[in-house]
Amino acid sequence: MRSLGILGVGELTEKMVHGLRRSGFAGAILLSPRNAARAEALAAEHGCQVLTSNQAVVDQAEQLIVGVRPDALPQLASEVRLRPGQRLLSVVAGINLEQLAVAFPGASCVRAMLSYSAQYNASTVAICPADEQAEQCLGPLGKLVVLADESAFELATVAACMNGWFYFLLHDLQQWLSDKGLPAEQARALVLGNLQDCISAAQRQPEQSLKALGEAIATPGTFTADGLAVLMHQPVSATWGAACEVVLDGLLTRSRL
Ligand SMILES: NC(=O)c1ccc[n+]([C@@H]2O[C@H](COP(=O)([O-])OP(=O)(O)OC[C@H]3O[C@@H](n4cnc5c(N)ncnc54)[C@H](OP(=O)(O)O)[C@@H]3O)[C@@H](O)[C@H]2O)c1
Repeated sequence: MRSLGILGVGELTEKMVHGLRRSGFAGAILLSPRNAARAEALAAEHGCQVLTSNQAVVDQAEQLIVGVRPDALPQLASEVRLRPGQRLLSVVAGINLEQLAVAFPGASCVRAMLSYSAQYNASTVAICPADEQAEQCLGPLGKLVVLADESAFELATVAACMNGWFYFLLHDLQQWLSDKGLPAEQARALVLGNLQDCISAAQRQPEQSLKALGEAIATPGTFTADGLAVLMHQPVSATWGAACEVVLDGLLTRSRL
């Protein structure tokens, strides 16, 4: 890919640009003009160009990333005309391939979902459908997960929301340790470290279910088991499940509009 256009320079696409440059992408990055201060700052830091219109971005870019909010998509779509077959990677949550095809006739559309860790090339990168060029473009931002169909992709979007929720859970755990007297920095290191331990072990043992890995630790008579008994009697997982259902409902409702 020689050039990449960004339609909608916002929180997520800014991090994607950071990650792309960090991974060594040296091609042209062409930015849409709206949100001028952010676009100018990004251009200065990462050698991007801010163009005068969305259509100029479309005309000069080989591939496009669209990163506006869902409600802003119709307006953006009305402002541009893509080349037949031009690849458009959409990170717009809840807008399905059929809706993208109507909004951008003739374009070759792929959906993607990432987290802010894209700026460190450490995001989960969900993609649908499988597409070699999209995978080459976004793969450097983290770990690709190619979803078989859009139902699976909506679930991947719920998983992307979990990324945000985890921070609040981790904050609460850190806060508990701090309230008990640990310096905040140490509390943070212990919470993140123990989470990282869990992730490392789980990734190295893909044949073991996550539950089995936990059960191997929380054996009868352990302190872990004592705490787990309390967790299992309080509806924490039910609350997380309810949050997932709300998000999935919202995504499916939008894709039916
Ligand atoms: N944030 C996340 O964690 C995350 C994660 C995964 C996916 N997403 C998806 O990514 C998309 C962007 O989210 P965000 O949080 O990055 O939003 P954001 O910060 O609000 O960025 C959206 C950007 O699009 C610009 N924009 C709006 N209409 C435009 C138009 N017609 N032409 C060009 N630019 C236009 C906005 O400019 P103005 O400020 O001038 O309106 C803003 O700079 C959403 O669809 C969301 O579903 C976000």
